[in-house]
Amino acid sequence: MSEKEHKVSRRQFLSYSLMGVGGFMAAAMISPMVRFALDPALEAAGESDFVSVATVDQLTEEPQRFTFQVTVEDAWYTSDQSRTAWIYREGDNIIALSPTCTHMGCVVNWDTNEEFPNQFFCPCHDGRFEKSGQNVPNTPPTRPLDVYDMEVRDGTIYLGRPIQRNSV
Ligand code: FES
Repeated sequence: MSEKEHKVSRRQFLSYSLMGVGGFMAAAMISPMVRFALDPALEAAGESDFVSVATVDQLTEEPQRFTFQVTVEDAWYTSDQSRTAWIYREGDNIIALSPTCTHMGCVVNWDTNEEFPNQFFCPCHDGRFEKSGQNVPNTPPTRPLDVYDMEVRDGTIYLGRPIQRNSV
């Protein structure tokens, strides 16, 4: 084999190696994007489905705070995270509200401001919500608290994802 042929052969080897590494890196970057593009439901399935949170007989007409754990999966790992819901009964209806203020994401509390009893109050910018979660006009939030997707089976309340609502 001549020296020239030998050099060309080494160059080819190097370029094939670089192409291989580049291809591997491109595939690693693109595959999660392709996965979510092909099946958007996979992204929505990041948080595990319904989890049991409370029993119906624990509920009162007064909103109570319940804490529960959800399993969250993203492209790289799975983790358990804590969630909270304000849940109450109104006749035969059960309402489960997200505690996340729709203004800038602080946590709301029920009936903690003496000036505004029987409302959800956000201490960050004095945001307020009615018991239904409806935002009080002329306070910073411009839409209601999210309401959890919910199932009731055999006296147990299961919550799914919070669902965004628009102002009425
Ligand atoms: S974050 Fe709740 S009022 Fe601003």
